Amino acid sequence: MQIIRKKSEMKDLRGIWAREGRVVGFVPTMGALHKGHITLVERSVAECDRTVVSIFVNPLQFGPKEDFGKYPRREKADCEMCEKAGADVVFIPTVEEMYPRGSGTVVEPHPALVSGMCGAKRPGHFRGVLTVVAKLFNIVQPNVAYFGQKDYQQCCVIEQMVLDLDFPVKLVFVPTVREPDGLAMSSRNEYLSKEERKKSVCLYKALKEAERMIVNEKEKEVSKIVERMKEIVQEAGGRIDYIEIVEPKSLRKVESIEESVVIGIAVFIGSTRLIDNIIVCPNRGEIFCDAL
Ligand code: PAF
Repeated sequence: MQIIRKKSEMKDLRGIWAREGRVVGFVPTMGALHKGHITLVERSVAECDRTVVSIFVNPLQFGPKEDFGKYPRREKADCEMCEKAGADVVFIPTVEEMYPRGSGTVVEPHPALVSGMCGAKRPGHFRGVLTVVAKLFNIVQPNVAYFGQKDYQQCCVIEQMVLDLDFPVKLVFVPTVREPDGLAMSSRNEYLSKEERKKSVCLYKALKEAERMIVNEKEKEVSKIVERMKEIVQEAGGRIDYIEIVEPKSLRKVESIEESVVIGIAVFIGSTRLIDNIIVCPNRGEIFCDAL
């Protein structure tokens, strides 16, 4: 496995692979890799001839009071995990390499897709995400790119960008990988104390209660479901950032549940902000992004 730090080197290697007719899979990450990321890498390795993983903590997608400074960085362990999973290249540029003149031209997300959920709570976040993903797509030129369902809204804005700007890349969204108690895997779980880790299961508990109400009780009224979810989170000592129930493609809020919906949740456990979501079909229960 090769470690590449320069954009020019990455592009040169991509040129060689193009001449050899290789199908290139790409897993963009911010490092601090866990089983969720490795599932994406393994999927790419199984489906593509070559797999590139990028590790770049992108300053553009963090707000001024967010955790850019303390975001976990552990290059060596990450590279070992990528190698074990069968990746061919880990691309690790510096901030200067990615943004040599600072931040300039940016990619704006479709406004309708960022008016709620994390888009509303983290202004500018998805502009930062799309700008770096567009740059990484131009550098790596993947045939296929892999993203996790845990960042559902991120998947939607990237899908729209690829469509609107004609990026020649196929997107694959992969279901969320969870801890045995249901907590979605996330690099930010590392911030949790032992006590907070116990509380953090309230996100998944609230999501599964919503599913139960929709499927078993045939509850359609979103306000009642959200109320119940709030109780679960508050009883556990979590501070709700948002709970939203939206239409899976447009991300428009729904008031009455008639078809499949995405239930998104963001909660502060202490000072750590965690997000999660599930997709629920009223007749089938939880379904996954690959079934949409
Ligand atoms: O999901 C992430 O880790 C990041 O938002 C991404 C896609 C790597 C862009 O920085």
